[in-house]
Amino acid sequence: MTQAQNPAPAVLSQDDLKTLVGQAALKYVVPGEIVGVGTGSTVNKFIDALASMKDQIKGAVSSSVASTERLQALGITVFDCNDVAELSVYIDGADEVDPKGYLIKGGGAALTREKIVAAQSRQFVCIADESKLVKTLGKFPLPVEVIPMAINRVTRQFEAMGGTVVVRLKDGAPLVTDNGQYILDVTGLHIVDPLGFESQVNQWPGVVTVGVFAFQKAQVCLIGAAGGVKTLTF
Ligand code: A5P
Repeated sequence: MTQAQNPAPAVLSQDDLKTLVGQAALKYVVPGEIVGVGTGSTVNKFIDALASMKDQIKGAVSSSVASTERLQALGITVFDCNDVAELSVYIDGADEVDPKGYLIKGGGAALTREKIVAAQSRQFVCIADESKLVKTLGKFPLPVEVIPMAINRVTRQFEAMGGTVVVRLKDGAPLVTDNGQYILDVTGLHIVDPLGFESQVNQWPGVVTVGVFAFQKAQVCLIGAAGGVKTLTF
């Protein structure tokens, strides 16, 4: 891992840090191309910044209905993922970032489409504030998108690993993802082998996507910190 640092004002709110990294990500957008766009409050800052160069890009592939709506409202064309062979870059946030660029994602319930767009991209540039940096993944409740009929079975499998599982709710009912599935949030895990863990959970019937991004890890992470934007490369 290598690090570089740019100066910035000393007192910055978390929202300011998100704005800083959202703007810093613009330099990874390739003029004339289509950019992969993630989901979440940090990416919203990136989308807002991207509007300033909307005439220089062909458009975007989006990882959620929410990001699609925000992009389109700013006049940025959104392409269907199936109509684009490969993207040069995918810009997205994360819930946790470990020292190798392995991530936990899915706090915004968009993990499945995020993993698809990340897999379709040559480079994943993660944008986050420094609160997301961890030594070992697992403190943030791990999001797992699951087909509803498998909820109890998958819950028992995580419990056998020592995890505690809740079905994510919205307005008192299970949250339904953009793909029509449910989200389990799993606490109590200590993910020391992200690649092995992702492989294992991917095998469980009914699991659509596990929120560990090890095979689709970040190659670059722009971290907003009190001292400015740090660039981590993995
Ligand atoms: C969306 O499903 C997530 O993967 C987000 O990228 C992640 O939760 C980070 O979101 P914030 O930028 O809102 O913290």
